[in-house]
Amino acid sequence: MSRTLLVAGGAGFIGANFVHYWLENHPEDRVLALDALTYAGNPANLLPVWNDPRFRFYPGRIEDPTVVNGIFRVEKITHLLNFAAESHNDRSLLDPVSLINTNVTGVAVLLEAARQHGVERFLHVSTDEVYGEIGAGAFRESDPLEPRTPYSAGKAGGEMMARAHRIAYQTPVVITRGSNTFGPYQYPEKLLPFFITRALQNRKLPLYGSGQQVRDWIFVRDHCTGIATALERGATGEAYNVGGGNERTNLEVTRRLLAILQKPETLIQPIGDPRGEAHDRRYALDSAKLHALGWKPAHDFDAALERTVRWYVEHESWWRPIVESEGYRAFVARYYGPYLGEEL
Ligand code: NAD
Ligand code: TYD
Repeated sequence: MSRTLLVAGGAGFIGANFVHYWLENHPEDRVLALDALTYAGNPANLLPVWNDPRFRFYPGRIEDPTVVNGIFRVEKITHLLNFAAESHNDRSLLDPVSLINTNVTGVAVLLEAARQHGVERFLHVSTDEVYGEIGAGAFRESDPLEPRTPYSAGKAGGEMMARAHRIAYQTPVVITRGSNTFGPYQYPEKLLPFFITRALQNRKLPLYGSGQQVRDWIFVRDHCTGIATALERGATGEAYNVGGGNERTNLEVTRRLLAILQKPETLIQPIGDPRGEAHDRRYALDSAKLHALGWKPAHDFDAALERTVRWYVEHESWWRPIVESEGYRAFVARYYGPYLGEEL
């Protein structure tokens, strides 16, 4: 049976990679992308599928019921996946309020549309950051949500709306909590693409604090297969961790990418910590529940990092207009200016 997926946030980093992945692997299905094209959304991320007759793009905001219901009226959507979010911790610290429109209200609007029109599955893409930080061991899905930044608090709020909807209306919700993701098409504000594109321009890399914070890195294709597994085989009402199993300190990751690019470590500029107390020290996920459904990551970290770095080297035409845009430069100046001064 052919399916029609509505992918909210489909012009962003993981959403676009998921659209590519799905159309490559499910020739009989249709995929619709709904995206507001915020600063992080980019139609160029969807260029490889733009002319595919099985693909269609709908511009609009997920918190706008007129937009969302309008799509449901003209399309027979079987699966709704929500990737849309204000997704950057640093920006959320500058503005902790407006993200609620997307990360909480938007989720509620999508859930309501799913209830009114009926879907087989509502998959909500969440993050490991909802658990907060962990000193030792790894988070399991039954652990409490203890977010510590405005971004992760918003994501936890979205999850709570999904959870309540499932209980109150039996909406067929499944949640995934992925770890730090990297790969092609990632907006150059997150650690890896920010540092890769800066190193390519011989600019300083602002490493927060000691650089000893630990993240569990996952290649974007593996994150997408994890989401696909939860979509197709996950149990309604359940959450699934999607971790790469690659714990690295920020300093290790930075040194590695500089080695791949053959750039000097003198580019690393340790700065104070702009996140302060809200800088989570370590994330780690126990993904046994998703492994039990047959999923495991297929990409080796070092090889995937090399492939990612190569992608940015070969796709300067993708990132150059972004890093030279007024909005991007204003953000970098506002956030990093106090630390980098003239080096900006
Ligand atoms: P991203 O910022 O690259 O993309 C977000 C997309 O959502 C953009 O295309 C943007 O235009 C769109 N969008 C934002 N607000 C919208 C709105 N109100 N209506 C419609 N579209 C809107 O983010 P990403 O890194 O691709 O993350 C996707 C999802 O995965 C997010 O929900 C995020 O919380 C989650 N996640 C990300 C990571 C990661 O490391 N990047 C890890 C775990 C989970
Ligand atoms: P980021 O990619 O923003 O993801 P998250 O906050 O979701 O983990 O940051 C990853 C880590 O890298 C985090 O510990 C903060 C650190 N970091 C820097 O040291 N310098 C930077 O310029 C950025 C963007 C992040």
